[in-house]
Amino acid sequence: MQHLIDTNDFSDRDIAAIFADARRFKAKRPPRLLKDKLLITLFFEASTRTRSSFEVAAKRLGAAVVHLDPSRSSTKKGESLEDTFANLCAMEPDGVIIRHSENTTPSLLAEMEMTPVINAGAGNYAHPTQALLDLFTLEEYFADEGGVAGKKIAIVGDIANSRVAASDIRLLRRMGMEITLVAPEPFMPETDLPRTERIEEVLDKVEVIMSLRAQLERHAKPIFEDYAEYARHYCITEDLLADRSIMIMHPGPVMRNIDISDAILDDPRSLVLDQVTNGVYVRMAILKHLLLDT
Ligand code: CP
Repeated sequence: MQHLIDTNDFSDRDIAAIFADARRFKAKRPPRLLKDKLLITLFFEASTRTRSSFEVAAKRLGAAVVHLDPSRSSTKKGESLEDTFANLCAMEPDGVIIRHSENTTPSLLAEMEMTPVINAGAGNYAHPTQALLDLFTLEEYFADEGGVAGKKIAIVGDIANSRVAASDIRLLRRMGMEITLVAPEPFMPETDLPRTERIEEVLDKVEVIMSLRAQLERHAKPIFEDYAEYARHYCITEDLLADRSIMIMHPGPVMRNIDISDAILDDPRSLVLDQVTNGVYVRMAILKHLLLDT
């Protein structure tokens, strides 16, 4: 039984096959490859993109999707997460897609070996489908330049608390990208990567900036009182970019004019909505890979 807890669950060959499928699905709507399959989603944290993207992906391939809203589930009556999961598995789904605030929850449920578990975001540990759609978007952008190996990306923002950053760093590094971390000290994780607090230092060196929001829900107490002041140093603006051909990415949700300015979100250099579009095709290909083992 194959699970997706982080991107290292997939070999390079798996990722190449998934991306080939995603490209095919993007070029031409596929047949209903998963028409007999049923997935359950279990989101213990809020989501706009990931949950709806998985549902669209599953439905585009003909699968049925059942959502369990944890705030209205029997976990509220004291049922353990393991028992909730075991009861859902007793209904014989073909996979469970889970988001949770704890880093280890998806892997603990996967160890029960009852159904394929797909991590839709766990604590600050991993968000593998986001990292894969980010890599797909980068590969698409750099397709005419031989791919992403050797390309330079700056990851900017609350890196220490971001599961997207954690998964992106592992995956993009593995694919040969050169990563610089840009963050104020409270947002900087322990790292052996190049790092700086000053975004100006990377502007003439990178081809891509991945901006991240402050993960306020993971801050035990407020880190900055004034995000306008934070934005003065880290917001991606027209003034900051000038005429540089740096592509801008963000996993969402974007804190407008704190992470990225309104003007840059509308700028042709923004790949933010391309990431969302590609997310559906990449998740379609991931579901095909996990559920059909192809
Ligand atoms: N990128 C991402 O995980 O967005 P959501 O929180 O809206 O799913």
